[in-house]
Parts: sequence; structure tokens; C-alpha cells
Amino acid sequence: MKAWCKRFLTITFCLATLGGAPLAGAASSGNISAYKPKVGQEGKDVVWVPTSQALVDQMLDMAGLTPNDYLVDLGSGDGRTVITAAKRGAKAKGIEFNPDLVHFAQAAAKAEGVADRATFEQGDIFQSDFSDATVVTLFLTTSLNLKLRPILLDMKPGTRVVSNSFNMGDWEPDESARLDKDDGCVSWCNAYKWIVPAKVGGAWDLGGRELVLDQSYQTFEGSLQASNNQSPVTDGVLKGSQIEFTVGNDRYVGQVEGNRMHGVVNGKTKWQALRKAP
Ligand SMILES: C[S@@+](CC[C@H](N)C(=O)[O-])C[C@H]1O[C@@H](n2cnc3c(N)ncnc32)[C@H](O)[C@@H]1O
Repeated sequence: MKAWCKRFLTITFCLATLGGAPLAGAASSGNISAYKPKVGQEGKDVVWVPTSQALVDQMLDMAGLTPNDYLVDLGSGDGRTVITAAKRGAKAKGIEFNPDLVHFAQAAAKAEGVADRATFEQGDIFQSDFSDATVVTLFLTTSLNLKLRPILLDMKPGTRVVSNSFNMGDWEPDESARLDKDDGCVSWCNAYKWIVPAKVGGAWDLGGRELVLDQSYQTFEGSLQASNNQSPVTDGVLKGSQIEFTVGNDRYVGQVEGNRMHGVVNGKTKWQALRKAP
């Protein structure tokens, strides 16, 4: 941390200047305690390395974050993702195991004037309930992401999950982006986004015909059975609760609402399917 930054400058300017450096500017301008996090310091399951501010901005852009969202950052470090989300008008919470980082982030949120929308909780991400989030951000490891994956897949369809650098195994991202130093990011510069898909695997009654779907994350295939012929279901894709699939020459587009899905075929004829009892 440069002395001039400590002495004279605002948090925002220090952060913009230092990119991926810890939120130490916040400590000086926000009268935060003497505690300063150190890049690489031990964490419970993973060390603390901050996401560069440029990638935080990119991740929130990819999430399509709006003031109606509730963002939860799992392992929130110095609080920068949560504070940035709050500055964009969203409600946001960080879950962080290290109590020093929690206090540091709380003071930074206060110094930035967003403590009403940016909150921090000391806890273990694997013991915490974040099921009401509409956006989840992560900068952990692939193995931790895989441990979280079943919890994330059980969240409300349409929830956006955005990870710095680490993937979700065979759950392919819906979108990815890479920044470089010209964008203000020098390390840990890849972002991946997933949209939690609705659950559609199983048997449905589609106007008296049996629709059987075999789902793999946001894609699926299957068959549509009429009295004596069976047509394959192809190009099945889910974007949250929005569904699209093809049967023969017909493209079905619609919405999944629990045990009912409905929409239009080829842009004109209405369709509806109801989940069959298992
Ligand atoms: C790589 S840092 C990312 C910090 C922040 N999300 C960011 O992007 O700048 C990971 C953070 O997770 C915290 N952490 C590690 N294991 C945790 C756990 N089981 N529960 C809560 N926080 C944890 C670490 O203390 C560290 O602050």
C-alpha cells in the first residue's frame, strides 16, 4: 500500500489505482482498525486473494445485477464484491469465515456509505443458508465449487452463479469472459457464469402424449410418444425457467413453473405439459 494512498486519497481512488490490492485504503479513510489483510493469508478452505476490481465489475455485469437482486458472495474476503453490488443498488451479503475480514469489510461498507445494503456474516459457507440469493459469487477452487454445486443447482431457477477463475466440472458455463491487463486485470482474470436451470427431467403429459426428458444441467434430450410413433426431442435448452426444444420440425418455446410448463410452438400454437406422477 503506497503511503500517498494511505494519507491523501479516497477509498475509490486507491482501489482504482491498485486494482487487485486489498481494500487497505478503506482502513485508512474509514477509520477501520489497524488490521490489514495480506494476499495469500490462510483461510479456512482457501487462502485470501482478492478479485481485481475490474473482474468484480465484469462479474456483476455478467450477472446482469439490478437493484432488485440479492447477491451473496461466498468467502467474501475484504468485501469488495458485496460493496460494489451495494453501490449498484442491490442488497448484498458476504459470508466469510475469518472474523477479522468480516470486521474489515463491515467498516469498509460503512466508509463507502452502503452499510445498509452491504452486510457481512462470520460463518462457514458450507454451514450457511444462502438459498434466498438471486446472484451468488465465488472465488474459491474447483473442488470447493463442486462441493457447492448440488446446493447451487437446488436454488431457484434463474439464479445466476458467477465464479472467478474456477469452473463447475461438467456443468458447462452459460457465459465466460477473460480480461487482460489493458482491462485492468493482471491475475485471476477469468469469469464464468451459470444460470440455475429448472428441473425438467422425467415424464410429462403433453396434450395426451408422453414427453420423456433426460436432463443434463441446462440441456436435455428425450422423446415424445404419440399412439404408435415416437419422435426424438432434440436441442433442448434451459435458461433458468425458460425452455426450448425441437420435435421434428416444431420448435417449442415456453416457461417451466414447477410441475407445469407451457408456451407456444413455432411462435403460434399454444402448448402445455403437466408432470406425470412418478
Ligand atoms: C480467494 S478469497 C476471495 C475473496 C473475495 N470473494 C474476492 O473475490 O475478493 C476466498 C475467501 O474465502 C474465505 N474462506 C475460505 N474458506 C471459507 C469457508 N469455509 N467459509 C467462509 N469463508 C471461507 C477466505 O478467508 C477468503 O477470504
